[in-house]
Amino acid sequence: MNFELTEEHLAVQAAAREFAQTELLPGVIERDEQQKFPTEQIKKMGELGFLGMMVDPKYGGGGMDTISYVLAMEEISKVDASASVVMSVNNSLVCWGIEKFGTEEQKQKYLPRLATGEIIGAFCLSEPEAGSDATSQRTTAEDKGDYYLLNGTKNWITNGSTASVYLVIAQTYPEKGHRGINALIVERGMEGFVVGPKENKLGIRGSDTHSLMFSDVKVPKENRIGEDGFGFKFAMQTLAGGRIGIASQALGIASGALELALKYSKERKAFGVEIAKHQAIQFKLADMATNIEAARLLCLQAAYDKDSHRDYGQSGAMAKLFASKVAMETTVEAVQIHGGYGFVKEYHVERLMRDAKITQIYEGTSEIQKIVISRELLK
Ligand code: CAA
Ligand code: FAD
Repeated sequence: MNFELTEEHLAVQAAAREFAQTELLPGVIERDEQQKFPTEQIKKMGELGFLGMMVDPKYGGGGMDTISYVLAMEEISKVDASASVVMSVNNSLVCWGIEKFGTEEQKQKYLPRLATGEIIGAFCLSEPEAGSDATSQRTTAEDKGDYYLLNGTKNWITNGSTASVYLVIAQTYPEKGHRGINALIVERGMEGFVVGPKENKLGIRGSDTHSLMFSDVKVPKENRIGEDGFGFKFAMQTLAGGRIGIASQALGIASGALELALKYSKERKAFGVEIAKHQAIQFKLADMATNIEAARLLCLQAAYDKDSHRDYGQSGAMAKLFASKVAMETTVEAVQIHGGYGFVKEYHVERLMRDAKITQIYEGTSEIQKIVISRELLK
């Protein structure tokens, strides 16, 4: 067993850290307050290769492993979880989904631009009445011969107004249940496709979350991903890897909060000494660090499983379940360690606390991760 990171891993980690500290940190509070999408920052992330890290270089990607991706996600998420969710969706849902299951034509058409951030993608599974219960798709993709007629509404779509390419899950044969679902590549600008208003959120306020409406949108048959009826399995297999990305996001939010809490506790004095000298604070820091280390190991284990072509459905779900809990608990404690200063925006920890919550909800709630894990255990 080898716990050492390679030189390449350390270089990716250092590059992501440098980028986060110099390019994302300035302005992160204002972007959160104003719900401003990090347009310039995402463009630079694309130029630096952070938006298509695992894509084969022949399609314009970085050809890196999942461990590199986890390390980069952690560093970006320490500073700006709104930027890292764009990164996560683009890398592990959209690029991976097309690269793994798309046709050669689809890969050549979309991956080079997605992997370099020239355009970004969105993954559209959730609906007003189909969130956790994802097989209950109401959006329909009627087979019309050489095209599908797409009708319905998707909810909560990350990159909703900024994406150019949308992977849309829809029901073609209702009588076949989940085996009648298809995954289609829908392009921005297709007639009948309307982006709804932006959601006003508790956290990750810099990311743009929208509902999407499809009204008689004609999607060419060649835009279907995989065999007829493969759409639900496509979504599940893609989400299994996506969950490693969100687990790393949660890990980064937690470790960012610990870094801030450590710094503050050595600066702030109470009762004549730095608060870090009080054992109550030391014990909080010890718990935070221990939980974060455990979360990091789970994330790296899931990434290692994926890179070694082993099953990673369970390890990815465990990483997400645990890291998101750690993110929530750690950020609450980081606010506590900051006292009243933790409750105001300029110390960053209140934002990390708000951002942490979403990691227990999207890409499958914590309850859904427990379903995935327990089904595997009981198989
Ligand atoms: N890989 C391949 N196939 C899978 C699979 C996997 N990981 N998981 C399930 N399947 C297959 C099953 O084998 C089954 O097919 P067969 O009947 O042919 O064998 C089919 O999918 C249906 O599976 P279940 O019977 O287990 O379905 P279920 O209704 O019990 O639901 C579930 C399973 C795990 C709860 C699933 O509905 C689920 O994951 N829900 C959560 C949805 C979710 O994560 N949404 C995230 C949206 S994207 C997002 O959130 C992005 C973002 O925020 C940034
Ligand atoms: P519900 O499914 O209604 O769940 C409500 C509660 O019931 C939860 O606590 C849940 O865990 C629990 N519950 C439900 N079923 C069970 C069960 N069987 N056992 C135990 N408990 C259960 N979706 C996308 O497709 N693409 C995106 O890009 C995307 N981005 C998002 C961004 C944001 C900011 C948000 C808020 C959501 C996003 N989502 C996206 C949607 C997200 O994946 C769903 O919100 C999530 O899957 C939960 O679905 P729901 O909101 O309908 O909750």
